[in-house]
Amino acid sequence: MSFAYRWEPPFEGVQQVALVLHGTGGDEHSLVPFAESLLPGAAILSPRGRILERGAPRFFRRFGEGVFDYESIREEAQALADFVGEQRSEKHFASEDVVAVGYSNGANIAAATLLLRPETWTTGVLFRPMMTLTPFGTNPETALAQNPDLQGKRILLAAGERDPIVPLASVQALVKQLQEAGASVELKVRAAGHELSRAEIEDARAWLGWT
Ligand code: MLT
Repeated sequence: MSFAYRWEPPFEGVQQVALVLHGTGGDEHSLVPFAESLLPGAAILSPRGRILERGAPRFFRRFGEGVFDYESIREEAQALADFVGEQRSEKHFASEDVVAVGYSNGANIAAATLLLRPETWTTGVLFRPMMTLTPFGTNPETALAQNPDLQGKRILLAAGERDPIVPLASVQALVKQLQEAGASVELKVRAAGHELSRAEIEDARAWLGWT
């Protein structure tokens, strides 16, 4: 089963492709206006998560809040990487052009996909991510079979100080994991909860070089 998705071609002369990954209960349309404000003129590749949780689309299964099905994470991350690879050949763009824009569950699958299949994207703006797959050598249920080489990847992580869903320690563990794999990582922690604040959109625009 492939992904339902939305594709918007880029404006003339723009090479970037925003890989847009929604949060729980969103779909391929929910984050498009947001991605367009972050990456004006970029192509939009926005898949819908294939897992349904009581009718709410997600990118992998979970047993409860923050209690993940790691087999589903691995399977869905591989499927998403395959999907992006097919789109890359069909629509003629390069991995270097792909900017992942993910929120919450979408940020989590973006990170998991990068860890398992680093060719999937190069730049990432991840809002409210947390650690899912753990480094090689840790708990076999949750660990990667090998740690990837993420040199050349550039990632902004945006966390909320009062986020009731994502513990700050989990975001910090993800930052460490990405840095140890060689990625260039910036963590911005704002006085916010799980919802995004206006300031964070400005942080992301500045980080992407627009302001
Ligand atoms: C997840 O399940 O990926 C995270 O807990 C965030 C969310 O609620 O989507």
